[in-house]
Amino acid sequence: MSVKRVLIFDSGVGGLSVFEQVIKLNPGIQCQYLFDNAYFPYGELKQTQLVARLTQLLTDFLQQYPADLIVIACNSASTVALKALRQHFTIPIVGVVPAIKPASLVTRNNVIGLLATPGTIARDYTHKLISQFAADKSVLSIGSTQLVKLAEDKLMGKVLSQDEFMDILAPWLSQNASMPDTLVLGCTHFPLLKTEIQACFNTEVNLVDSGEAIALRVKQLLGEEQKLDLQSQQANSHQAFYTKLFNDNQHLAALTQSFSGYGFNALQHCNL
Ligand code: DGL
Repeated sequence: MSVKRVLIFDSGVGGLSVFEQVIKLNPGIQCQYLFDNAYFPYGELKQTQLVARLTQLLTDFLQQYPADLIVIACNSASTVALKALRQHFTIPIVGVVPAIKPASLVTRNNVIGLLATPGTIARDYTHKLISQFAADKSVLSIGSTQLVKLAEDKLMGKVLSQDEFMDILAPWLSQNASMPDTLVLGCTHFPLLKTEIQACFNTEVNLVDSGEAIALRVKQLLGEEQKLDLQSQQANSHQAFYTKLFNDNQHLAALTQSFSGYGFNALQHCNL
């Protein structure tokens, strides 16, 4: 039985939060992680540009590194490009979209905070999720690219200032009943910052993301046979690729170390 190959894709390090969950539930798979730092941040790209870039990039990458399944580990991309990508590729594609439904099941005060990129906040897809699953809740949103950059900084070993987090989340930090008790981490970069986000609040807030649901979906789609590959788990090597060369070797070295902490044995440039 051959090892299943899964391509995990994001604009940057955010997909690692998804990879972590996927690999926990699917330990026998082999992952290629591709991040498109050449076009980062995705949350600020035009929708048409995103769809065209994703289709081309994934087509070219899969020619070199074929996969059995793709995870678009990026809300900004999934909320706009899933339909087009599923029409274009024949292998299964799992997307990541904001976890509005699970959040509406756990909120106690019926106020949900959606924390995502400006792109994801603006999407019709996101508005539909809200009207479908949280029509009876109050959903407040903050769209922040700065938070995405802070996650990148963290994995590049930079020291983060808690004040920056407080500034970004300031609209939700006053102590009153209309503030969210549950936050949807609607960008895959944000679960990497759970500690810093939680530390902004005096009381505990529910931080909800889509990682576990994605991992379950991957397991369903790959099927039972992957259990047979458990033995080869040790031998599996996960590889990571980026699309734009780094200016700073120190940052690349720190990032390589972060990726190796997740189980990646290489971080390579691919010119796509
Ligand atoms: N990690 C991505 C997301 O889930 C996007 C970050 C970005 O490039 O703006 O939306």
